[in-house]
Amino acid sequence: MAGCLEIENLYFKYHDGTLALKGVSLSIEKGEKVAILGPNGAGKSTLLLHLNGIHLPQQGVVRVNGVEINSSNEHQVRSKVGLVFQDPDDQVFAPTVWDDVAFGPLNMGLQRQEVEKRVADALQAVGMWEYRHRAPHHLSYGQKKRVAIAGVLAMDPQIIVLDEPSAFLDPVGQSNLVGILDDLNKEGKTILIATHDVDMAAEWATSIIVIKDGRVLAQGGTELLVQQDLVEAAGLRFPLVSQVFRETAVKYDLPLPCTVEEGKKILLKLTRH
Ligand SMILES: Nc1ncnc2c1ncn2[C@@H]1O[C@H](COP(=O)(O)OP(=O)(O)OP(=O)(O)O)[C@@H](O)[C@H]1O
Ligand SMILES: [Mg+2]
Repeated sequence: MAGCLEIENLYFKYHDGTLALKGVSLSIEKGEKVAILGPNGAGKSTLLLHLNGIHLPQQGVVRVNGVEINSSNEHQVRSKVGLVFQDPDDQVFAPTVWDDVAFGPLNMGLQRQEVEKRVADALQAVGMWEYRHRAPHHLSYGQKKRVAIAGVLAMDPQIIVLDEPSAFLDPVGQSNLVGILDDLNKEGKTILIATHDVDMAAEWATSIIVIKDGRVLAQGGTELLVQQDLVEAAGLRFPLVSQVFRETAVKYDLPLPCTVEEGKKILLKLTRH
């Protein structure tokens, strides 16, 4: 089955000559929850900027629902793929929070009533409705990040791509975000995040992609997060719950847990003896 996002042999060089992507090939199926991990400078943000046409491929192909992104359809692609930038200062610019979130839906030509509903729903989802009359540049960084996320939610895209979504969010904001992403996924949306948070990736993702030095090191399930050679090569670390159970799992010949739920099951099993 063809993926809803397909990338073939993608290369990208910045103006200063930095080769940020060196032949990336990936396929992502509809409805997946994908976490992209890899060290600083690996190429994660550069890759994500290709998924809604902000960067166009210099070499290679990016397809969304089978359609190749090029300079003539990049605008249509943006209504299908919503991207939350790593830095909200690159994204949030309107005079008020409300205007900022309404910008996308208004540009899509939606009726005023529909725009108002979408903005209200999106701002409530990220806990920023009370701030709707405020100037975005007077908000804290985490609040700006929430507004940037709301801006993409209000567009209701089929594919939602978030670059470091939980960075700068407080713990409640982080778990709310996971709830929002899971609800959207249940509606059938495909979600990709770039993150350094291996614990979140282990708990949340159905598919893991590891990138280093502009190349894909691995793509697979969350078991990749406890593959020692890969974790070391990509400068990651084991999820905390896996670290806690590492010796116990070896001693009792049990699979190494990736998630808190798996860890709890092991504890229950052991304490029953
Ligand atoms: N505007 C730019 N001009 C030149 N080089 C750039 C630019 N943006 C990124 N790079 C370079 O491209 C490479 C990939 O950067 P990118 O931002 O995609 O990495 P990343 O995996 O998102 O890192 P991080 O985890 O720090 O967000 C790095 O070597 C970086 O220095
Ligand atoms: Mg980045």
